[in-house]
Amino acid sequence: MTYAEAIMVRVSNRKYLDRALTEDEISQLHKIIAAANQDSGLQMQLVIDCPQAFSSLRASYGMFSGVRNMIALIGSEDLPYFREKCGYFGQKVLLGVTMLGLGSCWVCGTYDRSKLPCQLKPGEKLYGIIVVGPVAAQPGTREKLIRGALHRSHKSIAELSRGMGGAPDWFQSGMGAVQRAPSAMNRQAYRFSYVNGSVAVQQTEHTEYSDIDLGIAKLQFEIGAHGGTWTWGDFGTFTKAAEEKSCGAVIWRNGARGHEFLLAQHGASHWSFPKGHIEGRETELQTAKREILEETGLTVEIDPNFRQVVTYYPKPGVIKDVVFFVAQPTGGQEHAQEEEIRQLGWFTFQDAKPLVTFATDVEVLKAAETYILAKE
Ligand SMILES: Cc1cc2nc3c(=O)[nH]c(=O)nc-3n(C[C@H](O)[C@H](O)[C@H](O)COP(=O)(O)O)c2cc1C
Repeated sequence: MTYAEAIMVRVSNRKYLDRALTEDEISQLHKIIAAANQDSGLQMQLVIDCPQAFSSLRASYGMFSGVRNMIALIGSEDLPYFREKCGYFGQKVLLGVTMLGLGSCWVCGTYDRSKLPCQLKPGEKLYGIIVVGPVAAQPGTREKLIRGALHRSHKSIAELSRGMGGAPDWFQSGMGAVQRAPSAMNRQAYRFSYVNGSVAVQQTEHTEYSDIDLGIAKLQFEIGAHGGTWTWGDFGTFTKAAEEKSCGAVIWRNGARGHEFLLAQHGASHWSFPKGHIEGRETELQTAKREILEETGLTVEIDPNFRQVVTYYPKPGVIKDVVFFVAQPTGGQEHAQEEEIRQLGWFTFQDAKPLVTFATDVEVLKAAETYILAKE
């Protein structure tokens, strides 16, 4: 699941299932939080098994049930734009939680903060929490009623923006993502504008949580617009990132050791799958086939029903999508392309996992193995 897909499926969950988080879920949550803390300067903490924060009737208003785990939004009040960063990076973490298949809800008011076992250093503040945990695939009647009571109907794009008429597609899709942004009391108190080619956002209210809401909305816009950078603060401006695209495949065969995967060491650095840039008017499949032939000497049959996209910023101001299919070799002479590939190798799933350099590529490998097993 991509961040953009996570935005589409995310809702505020208030009813959690009676099961503990698995070890794998806990370790993934720690990784997501550590990455956001490093990028932001915040000190978010994962709190596991703390139902007491929601045990008193007053604190829960009777609306939450089964809450055990949460992410505490903590940071130094000296950090510039502290509240807005809680919103921006907190929402990034929350979408990561959605991608793990867990439910979540921002909670700044209706919990008992005195029951949280968090240690705050001098000058640090706890600004709120994000509840996380397993949820049912379909909401029950009670949860639907609560969601209805909390007016999940978001504002229209016309209410949230100015200058939409002459705006490029990416501004419109950015606003689609803003429309789905959660906000305290569902206020969405901001207005995005596209005027003379410049994007900016202005707050329409200043309340206790409006800066958190602003940070959340800026992140959602950035994801919806497919990459870019914001300046912090009210009246912040947005610069759209340039877009690049590469295509490749997880190539596999049934070998003596079971499923074997072809990995390539790109230059002297990372291990991944064969892949390369789209040229001219090529389709994704044409690029993948051509790059695989150039980099490995192999011809392949691609299965387009498996398609996973990894998105990252290779350098400031540039966003890159890498599309991976699965493929099987059909012929050719295997050899590594001299200029770009240092070495090629066939590895079992277990050996390939620790060798693949980037965590996002490991996720693609896991998804490919699951897909291949399901097809057999
Ligand atoms: C900063 C912030 C604080 C929030 N605090 C609470 C809260 O204290 N209690 C609660 O039930 N929901 C809280 N929410 C969740 C909102 O009510 C919810 O996002 C809104 O109803 C929109 O629904 P949706 O998230 O399903 O789109 C909060 C949301 C945000 C962004």
